[in-house]
Amino acid sequence: MSIILDISKVDMVFPTPKGDFTALKDVDLQIKKGEFISLIGHSGCGKSTVLNIVACLHKATKGGVLLNNKEVTEPGPERAVVFQNHSLLPWLTCYENIELAVKRVFKNEMSPAQMTQWIEHNLNLVHMDHAKDKRPDEISGGMKQRIGIARALAMKPEVLLMDEPFGALDALTRAHMQDSLMEIQQKLNNTVIMITHDVDEAVLLSDRIVMMTNGPAATIGEILEVNLPHPRDRLALAENPEYNRLRSAVLTFLYEKQRKIEVIPTATPKQKQSDVA
Ligand SMILES: Nc1ncnc2c1ncn2[C@@H]1O[C@H](COP(=O)(O)OP(=O)(O)O)[C@@H](O)[C@H]1O
Ligand SMILES: [Mg+2]
Repeated sequence: MSIILDISKVDMVFPTPKGDFTALKDVDLQIKKGEFISLIGHSGCGKSTVLNIVACLHKATKGGVLLNNKEVTEPGPERAVVFQNHSLLPWLTCYENIELAVKRVFKNEMSPAQMTQWIEHNLNLVHMDHAKDKRPDEISGGMKQRIGIARALAMKPEVLLMDEPFGALDALTRAHMQDSLMEIQQKLNNTVIMITHDVDEAVLLSDRIVMMTNGPAATIGEILEVNLPHPRDRLALAENPEYNRLRSAVLTFLYEKQRKIEVIPTATPKQKQSDVA
């Protein structure tokens, strides 16, 4: 399979009032077309920074990103982003939010009738056709994320970038969204990079799980291949030995190898020793 995205030896240094802060060091990852990659790591390690560099919302201090062998230098619809908190325009309906993106990307390629059809197709894909005329404040959080995903997919991105897309949702809605995303992925075979905190989500959805070390100077610690067959069923997997092996490999990485030491801020120095997480 061909490499679509090449994140090549990326360093990221942020200037801060206290001096330079090296967030990422030597992050190197090649992603194949149609691959679903999860990026997992403790909070603050640099996951969003990696995604933002791919989206060109940040520019890497060293190294760079190649999409189909061409360096990316500015944001573009071929790298559509879905954020944790939906970024829908509140004064537009669901339909109009998607329409705005579709008009921007395809104004010279689609007739108005084709656009309508394409927007409706994408609403259908996320099972939101019934709510197309509602505004964001009239629908639930899960529904807003569905529209955000539909809007991103409607741009026909080469790579879909998702930064904890289901992080703000309750557990049941989250499970529904994961199932929807798996269903869409089966149909479209998108190339996806998804950031998650959720070990089960990572194993359920991914072809590879990229595990990041703690910062500063965070980098890729280990990469885990997930060879579980598709379609994946969360209930059946709960009993699957390979699923459980992968799950515990991620947990071991996060909670043993990259254990994050968090000190309770109000504790006295003596208590801090025993309160280490
Ligand atoms: N614009 C910035 N300026 C300074 N430091 C930043 C900036 N953006 C992120 N950081 C720092 O870089 C590190 C990684 O941040 P981030 O990528 O948001 O982590 P994650 O998404 O894994 O939680 C953190 O220590 C964060 O404070
Ligand atoms: Mg983040």
